[in-house]
Amino acid sequence: MTLQLGDIVPDFKQASSQGEISFHEWIGDSWVVLFSHPADYTPVCTTELGAVASLKPEFDKRKVKVIAVSVDNAESHKGWISDINETQNTTVNYPIIADEDRQVANLYGMIHPKSLNNLTVRTVFIIDPNKKLRLTLTYPASTGRNFAEILRVIDSLQLTDVHGVATPANWQDGDDCVVVPSISTEDARNKFPKGVTEVKPYLRMTPQPNK
Ligand code: BEZ
Repeated sequence: MTLQLGDIVPDFKQASSQGEISFHEWIGDSWVVLFSHPADYTPVCTTELGAVASLKPEFDKRKVKVIAVSVDNAESHKGWISDINETQNTTVNYPIIADEDRQVANLYGMIHPKSLNNLTVRTVFIIDPNKKLRLTLTYPASTGRNFAEILRVIDSLQLTDVHGVATPANWQDGDDCVVVPSISTEDARNKFPKGVTEVKPYLRMTPQPNK
């Protein structure tokens, strides 16, 4: 069955470039970005894994662990990591799951045979510390992902989980936020002392509460 937002993500034990991973145990109490790519030693994937390695300090700052997956084996991953480090001028310092038997790919619905025969497509899963699925994205093999967007969503999730706000289109950390519909404008004015602007009765804006 397709994974849906809010589901507890499936647990698994699988080999990786950093040894066997018991996924729920590995998650611990962190946020997680799990992302799949079609295959090792492919050009777009090489740039993607390098980009994620370069952004690792940004993920760390947000208490997010990153983990990649493809259907190649751990020895292949290790050889490819050397190439990524050399060509992308970075150090891949997160595990790549070696999903040779497609256990993880099948559990998470990462194989889309009408798009890419028997290989994982480019999916992204954001998982919260309760192991609940909070975002899924699926990209075609020909399009490398924008990992700044993944960080932006994490900023939004971590903010909106705690404060009674949502984030508008193209929001970036520090921008004004939307007051959620379940809060009346009167209550919002008490809750958000920085002020509430009522553009329409259903569209109320407030400065980001935690800035
Ligand atoms: C790539 O990562 O470059 C790639 C992988 C599969 C199909 C197309 C491109």
